Amino acid sequence: MPIPEGPTLRELAVQALSSTMRGYDLLAPKFDLTPYRTPDRVLDAVADAVRPLGPFDRGLDVCCGTGAGVGVLRELCRERVTGVDFSAGMLGVARSAHTGPSAPAQGPAVDWVRADARALPFTPAFDLALSFGAFGHFLPEERPTLFDQVYASLRPGGVFVFPVGAPPAVGSRAYWSLLGFDVAMRVRNALWHPRFIMYYRTFPLAGVVDDLVRTGFEVRLLPLEALGRRPDGSPRARLVVAARG
Ligand SMILES: C[S@@+](CC[C@H](N)C(=O)[O-])C[C@H]1O[C@@H](n2cnc3c(N)ncnc32)[C@H](O)[C@@H]1O
Repeated sequence: MPIPEGPTLRELAVQALSSTMRGYDLLAPKFDLTPYRTPDRVLDAVADAVRPLGPFDRGLDVCCGTGAGVGVLRELCRERVTGVDFSAGMLGVARSAHTGPSAPAQGPAVDWVRADARALPFTPAFDLALSFGAFGHFLPEERPTLFDQVYASLRPGGVFVFPVGAPPAVGSRAYWSLLGFDVAMRVRNALWHPRFIMYYRTFPLAGVVDDLVRTGFEVRLLPLEALGRRPDGSPRARLVVAARG
């Protein structure tokens, strides 16, 4: 269902035929009106689960987009918060929302860095890194590089956290719609270049934990109780907490 002020179907089609980076540059001005921006209830649930793991001085939002995770980091970090993304358009919107004239004057310093998350330009400076809503843009074979890059950006003892939703029950409506989306994207990417990498089913919790452990992280999982439980009693979403030793 299109949102009145959100992107039109034509705009979404043009974006979907662009590269991942260019697609986000085009979507940026209307991104916060789409369902792709991480909802506040997820941000709040993560902030509440991460707060007891602190205090934190320096935070990094990986694939920050318009800065949803930067808002969380501003609550949790005392010194400095950095958002990194490869889309100049998304960073432009983030900058004006979080560091423009109407932004809150208080809190940690915020800066924005344009870089590919597969080649982060940081020294081990952060004690908290997080990421929301972006892992579908990485192919499974790119995960080890991505995790290596985050690991190398963390101080010893620093943590990398992100939420992972439980997969929909096999055969449910959500199951078929995510499967249908991924199949459509595979067909699109086989037929059309540049590719737009976005898949919903390429980030399974078990494989992700294995890759994090291979990178050197110590991993634990916390249920995000604020997001509820499924009929079988399992959490709807978990927080992955990956600590650099
Ligand atoms: C769905 S948006 C999520 C934005 C934000 N984190 C949120 O939760 O609202 C995905 C973001 O990932 C960024 N992105 C995708 N691949 C990237 C890469 N390889 N390096 C840096 N940023 C990337 C896109 O530019 C986009 O801003």
